[in-house]
Amino acid sequence: MKILSYGSLNLDFVYTVPHFVQEGETLSSLEREVFPGGKGLNQSIALAKAGLPVSHAGAIGSDEGELLVRMLEAVSVDTSRISILSGPSGHAIIQRDLNGRNGILIFGGANKALTREKILADLQDFGRGDFLVLQNEINELPYLVDQAYAAQMRIVLNPSPLDASIFDMDLSKISVFLVNELEAQALLMHYDQSLDLDGHWSETKIHSALESLQKLFPKALLVMTLGKAGSAAISPDAYARCESFSVPVVDTTAAGDCFSGYFLAAQAGGASLAESLRRASAAAAIAVSRPGAAPSIPESKEVDSFLAKQV
Ligand code: RIB
Repeated sequence: MKILSYGSLNLDFVYTVPHFVQEGETLSSLEREVFPGGKGLNQSIALAKAGLPVSHAGAIGSDEGELLVRMLEAVSVDTSRISILSGPSGHAIIQRDLNGRNGILIFGGANKALTREKILADLQDFGRGDFLVLQNEINELPYLVDQAYAAQMRIVLNPSPLDASIFDMDLSKISVFLVNELEAQALLMHYDQSLDLDGHWSETKIHSALESLQKLFPKALLVMTLGKAGSAAISPDAYARCESFSVPVVDTTAAGDCFSGYFLAAQAGGASLAESLRRASAAAAIAVSRPGAAPSIPESKEVDSFLAKQV
């Protein structure tokens, strides 16, 4: 089984702010840091640190994108399918408040300049049973999904950032969905606008949202993260629920990407749904206790020792 993570590579410009900038306001930031990021890169780093061999496909621009490739190479990700295109790399402007919450503005750059020719070439060495791991920060996703499905790959989709373009692809071809509660809500309401999912996520609501998603995508494994309320998953034959771990929050950026990589790696290693959620939650808990996107993602042995300390 091989893993192709096809996704965005961003330089993250992180501004620490006393509060998120408001309409019409000019706000001085307290600090600026630059980190490697992008949901695609973060997922690749998490998969690799969780112990899986990963190939990353995507594109950087002719500017400072080399840093992103070096970050992937440092954790032994195969970067031979990352093209260098003329024009800028993708980047993100991230406001991080003093409680670790963030607001993210992304510019696609090279991430949005992928061609069908490149996609066909990148998929060439992958086939039946191999995984294609996606997010929604690159162009040509519908084409990529169709080609990978035709090659009998298993397609994993984190639809973040979720917008109307997600419905341009044939979602029935997805094997694993990794969504947060807002994305779950948006997916469900797209198909049934009469649904009322506002308000508190009780245990019943979590379970029934996943069951409703399962009715829409009966063959898929569906995983939902709920921030401090933990995570839950449903497959055609099991339901699992995991509480979150309580840690001091420094920066929530990339926590979802870290969760995705560690969850998939645990599943690939044969762990149960419940065990996979627990390991992914532990990895995400460590990530939120550190600054930055990709650099906050822990090594597998850090996750082992974190879990060993839990009662
Ligand atoms: O999920 C976090 C990521 O979202 C950041 O690294 C940023 O680049 C945006 O893609």
